[in-house]
Amino acid sequence: MNTSFHCPPVAELSTGEQRWQAPSNIALVKYWGKYGMQLPKNPSLSFTLQTSLTTTTVAYQPAKKKAKGVSFEFLFEGLARPEFHPKLDAFFDRILPYQPFLEDLSLSISSTNSFPHSSGIASSAAAYAALSAALVAIEESLFPGKEHLYWDQKRSFLARLGSGSAARSLQGPMMLWGEHAAFDGSSNDYAIPFEDGLNPIFQDYQDCILLVDKGQKKVSSTLGHGLMEGHPYAVARFEQAHRHTQELANALQSGDLEAFIRITESEALTLHAMMQTSQPYFILMRPNTLHIIEALWAYRQDTQIPLCFTLDAGANVHLLYPKQYADKILSFVKDQLLTYCQAGEYLLDSVGQGAKKL
Ligand code: DP6
Repeated sequence: MNTSFHCPPVAELSTGEQRWQAPSNIALVKYWGKYGMQLPKNPSLSFTLQTSLTTTTVAYQPAKKKAKGVSFEFLFEGLARPEFHPKLDAFFDRILPYQPFLEDLSLSISSTNSFPHSSGIASSAAAYAALSAALVAIEESLFPGKEHLYWDQKRSFLARLGSGSAARSLQGPMMLWGEHAAFDGSSNDYAIPFEDGLNPIFQDYQDCILLVDKGQKKVSSTLGHGLMEGHPYAVARFEQAHRHTQELANALQSGDLEAFIRITESEALTLHAMMQTSQPYFILMRPNTLHIIEALWAYRQDTQIPLCFTLDAGANVHLLYPKQYADKILSFVKDQLLTYCQAGEYLLDSVGQGAKKL
């Protein structure tokens, strides 16, 4: 247990409300494999997004009687969604040692997403980041006086306990999560911003998300991470992620787009290779995922435009490119790629700055 994030219980509790917004993020170096309490087996590096957002309001009041655990009600898009309760219960159990005052409150949580729920977009990162930001803001109002850095880290720390990748959604434009010898302050407990010397070309990088399969995830991430346990290539993979983190960081500073493309695409394909070589094995790409990758490679070859892709643990494709090419890429998407998207749907996003209070 990490003791630096403990806070004392309080005697006097008030009534109030916190409303926070947090984005999703897209990993360039992938987190795949975890241990202990949501700790990553390797460092990961991500772009924080801007328009794929969750907005969460947490209204709180002193609980009428002391309950065991956290008492809350939860609305998603204005409707009661009891199917989310087990995950929220598990999250509150995990964070309670770090926010013991929650046991004396009664919470009313309500969330909305800016993107369609059934888009195949991983919404848990934005969701846990927004909820954690609101909960930490409540703590800050009860126990003021700590430095900014403490609250930044605690937001990410709590979000990680909900979903690992959520740790990277609190700040931007790029986040590093997981210990790496070359990066001072890097931690398995929380993500830190990677901003020193970030080449300007990456400050407004674009992400066009092609929705190839809008269905539910075929493999839950927790199950997926578990598949790295005893995986024949695990050790080599974790070493590679360390190497890629360093190489990508260099490319992010120098603006070397060729290196950026090589590492980013290799990471995406390695993630899927890990799934395809685990026991049991999965293929999460769809034929249209490969059609898009092939069309993208041909387009890059023809035009020399530095467009590349990355993938989540699913079939959707994220197209990444500098802003100056946005018009050209949009024409390419409309002319050649929409045919591979479910119902012709895609989302336009770009690099963002993380969670904010509304
Ligand atoms: C492939 O953060 O969803 O998107 O910690 O079990 O909630 P849990 O996993 P999650 O895993 C994300 C995996 C990934 C790669 C990444 O975002 O780094």
